[in-house]
Amino acid sequence: MDRSKLSASDQAGFSFFGGKNDTDPFPLFAQLRASGAVIPIPNPLGGSGGTWIVTQMEEAIQVLKDHARFTVDPSSLDGYQDIRRTLAETAEASAPATFFTGKSMLFVDEPDHKRLRGLVSKAFTPRYMESLRPRVQEIADELLDQVQAQGRMDIVKDYAYPLPINVISEMLGVPLEDRDQIRVWSEALARGLGYEKQDPTVAAHMSAFGEYTARLVADKRKRQAEDLISQLIAIEEEGDRLNEDELISMITLLIFAGHETTSNLIATGTLMLLDHPRQWEKLKADPGLVPSAVEELLRFNGPATASGPRYATEDVELGGQRIKKGDIVIPVLKSANRDESQFTDPEELDVARRIKRHLAFGHGIHMCLGAPLARVEGDVAFGTLVKRMPNLKLAIPREDIAWHFTLSSQSLASLPVTF
Ligand code: HEM
Repeated sequence: MDRSKLSASDQAGFSFFGGKNDTDPFPLFAQLRASGAVIPIPNPLGGSGGTWIVTQMEEAIQVLKDHARFTVDPSSLDGYQDIRRTLAETAEASAPATFFTGKSMLFVDEPDHKRLRGLVSKAFTPRYMESLRPRVQEIADELLDQVQAQGRMDIVKDYAYPLPINVISEMLGVPLEDRDQIRVWSEALARGLGYEKQDPTVAAHMSAFGEYTARLVADKRKRQAEDLISQLIAIEEEGDRLNEDELISMITLLIFAGHETTSNLIATGTLMLLDHPRQWEKLKADPGLVPSAVEELLRFNGPATASGPRYATEDVELGGQRIKKGDIVIPVLKSANRDESQFTDPEELDVARRIKRHLAFGHGIHMCLGAPLARVEGDVAFGTLVKRMPNLKLAIPREDIAWHFTLSSQSLASLPVTF
């Protein structure tokens, strides 16, 4: 297909839902922002319901904070296109698919959302995450020790992936030897959330992931341990605060969300720094800039392309457009984070930028639970890399680096470097 002949909004629909976008999406986002804050795109499921993307920050915040008018759970709306239900059916609508059927905090409204999030929020406070910093540092150092003598590594395989999966596995009590398998399932889940549900391997992997979590829970019921999964099982067994489906969904969500995005932050962030050698030099000269660099990398090209879809619960006017009850509304976080009305020179990467706010972790009640953990991991990952591998360089031509870009995430299959 010659995409240059498509309108900007058709291109956006194609990019988001085709799942094959291997090009830099930011010029398209700039074009879309210039044409409006709220733009219609083709319905992702080919249905007749309206679908809109939100390209600018103010309107994106409006949607994300107004959870009464923009719900994550459309099950009470007539005639909606329920993406999740279709996903769940594709994944054979068995217990493993419960993650997609509205049992996890990401997909429910209040009061269930508050109840579910409340059960784990204490485990993710900024103060508690800070207490994990020495352990995160140890893991980062061990990973770099393993490759130090070789003078080369694959940032994705050797660093960006194992660092967050090791941390979240320890927190949750997931056996480390399962992590390669978890990686395969998580990639499928990311693609499923990016609407690549047509791919049968995606559905099969999604099911297998849920079955794995169910087995993990069954095992842990037999031998209680000092980990977050065991604590959640105890809560479920106490009675009315968490049921079995919610337990499985919660754990699957924590395993997945707890590493997939952070891996992408570390891998994509490293590539962004290699693409901007002056910024890398700045960090080398002043490692005190690492925390602001992490925020800037989240803003500039954060892992989540868009938040999950929201559904209008009533007719509503947004950014000059008339959204109808039941329409799908998708805030494009990566675009909002380059909004010219919010940032000076938004298309520039500046590790010393002082950022008032960005939307990389979303906004409102569903704002990322794991943001404090991701920030600690990002600080440690980039701080350690810049200190221990100051001569980091790409080991292959830049044009050989392949992206996988979907609505929900963007990832690199590998990032070979020398140091
Ligand atoms: C929600 C991004 C790391 C757990 C979200 C949302 C975004 C996001 C954008 C909101 C989605 C929406 O509103 O539809 C990120 C990014 C990360 C990251 C960019 C890393 C750089 C983590 C980590 C965890 C985590 C380490 C740890 C468990 C969650 C959970 C939710 C969530 C549980 C759902 C919150 C709710 O519905 O109340 N994340 N995330 N995330 N994230 Fe993260």
